Amino acid sequence: MKRVVLAYSGGLDTSVCIPVLREHYGYDEVIAVLVDVGQPELDIKEGVDRAKKLADAVTLIDARDEFVRDYLFPLIKANGDYEGYVLGTAIARPLIAKKVVEVAQNRDAEAVAHGCTGKGNDQLRFDAIFRATNLAVVAPVRELSLTREEEHVYAAKHNIAFESEKRWSIDENLWSRSIEGSELEDPAAHPPEEIYKWTVSQDAAPDKPELLQIGFEHGVPVTLNEERMDGVSLITTLNELGGTHGIGRTDIIEDRVLGFKARENYEHPAATMLLKAHRDLEGLVLTRNELRFKAAVDQAWGELVYQGLLMDPLYDDLNAFINQTQKPVTGTVHLKLSKGLARVVGRASPNALYSPAVSFDAKAETRIVEGFSVYHGFQSRMIRRSCE
Ligand code: ARG
Repeated sequence: MKRVVLAYSGGLDTSVCIPVLREHYGYDEVIAVLVDVGQPELDIKEGVDRAKKLADAVTLIDARDEFVRDYLFPLIKANGDYEGYVLGTAIARPLIAKKVVEVAQNRDAEAVAHGCTGKGNDQLRFDAIFRATNLAVVAPVRELSLTREEEHVYAAKHNIAFESEKRWSIDENLWSRSIEGSELEDPAAHPPEEIYKWTVSQDAAPDKPELLQIGFEHGVPVTLNEERMDGVSLITTLNELGGTHGIGRTDIIEDRVLGFKARENYEHPAATMLLKAHRDLEGLVLTRNELRFKAAVDQAWGELVYQGLLMDPLYDDLNAFINQTQKPVTGTVHLKLSKGLARVVGRASPNALYSPAVSFDAKAETRIVEGFSVYHGFQSRMIRRSCE
């Protein structure tokens, strides 16, 4: 009995994979695993229905809490970012892959499969986790170089019902929504308003600003307007709140792992607000030296996650450092949401390194500073003199 477990999304690529795994690769049993990391409920429902028709067995795993606790919270602590991208798809793939591997191991499957093409980053992210096991790895769409057109023909032949080709390729989870393809492939083309689902345009946002307060404990967001919330609810609520003010749209040229440049559009209101608030709070409680050094660590973290290399020991090494720095990152940040912008308007922490004794208004012992000032810029002055 040849059994394979497929990372199933409900879309065309992964749906076509099911008959292909049987007919072309000779698997007797295909188990479809759909991992819920916060996709729209309807997509999940339709995906499960479709998988039931196509696969021999279907497993739906609600991984939202785990996604937030073990992936998004570390991302916030690391100010997770890659070239301005909040790493939404990137951070979810390793978890989806891990869940697929778990099912494969529990069901004695000999292989795991994904439906990624040979062009993007996701194939690498799945493969990195899949290949760390003894399981065979199958990637039918990539291996057979299937085009979307061929997939549609194949789907029709197998009575896999799909509306006509979707205009954009969309990937959505709790942290972000990514929109690619069609006219967006032209870096010069302005994104049409219809690509957005979570955010209104800046112009349509209400004139009246909204204030909110986010509370952090050791780098993890735990309260919204003083109300304690679990991570999933907090992020969902912030996505809604921020979306109504048009916060969190990104349009960038991104360097993919393979070296291609891609034009990417994202929306991510909660991510924008949480990352901004977290970074600001760090500015209040970490030393200048910590902040400088951590910026480099954060960047390394973002690159590793973008590449899907969470198995690299460096990932744990970086997290160990980052976690150590988060001990004092407790406090609240006030954000003002208005017309597409979330601005920090106040912050407070019991661990603040800010001293009112040297603030703008305080009468300080400024005479003491005179000595320091004499030698400030000393080397630069010397160079200029000798060159003249
Ligand atoms: N460029 C992003 C990444 O590599 C997002 C890709 C999302 N895929 C999509 N079909 N929209 O993580």
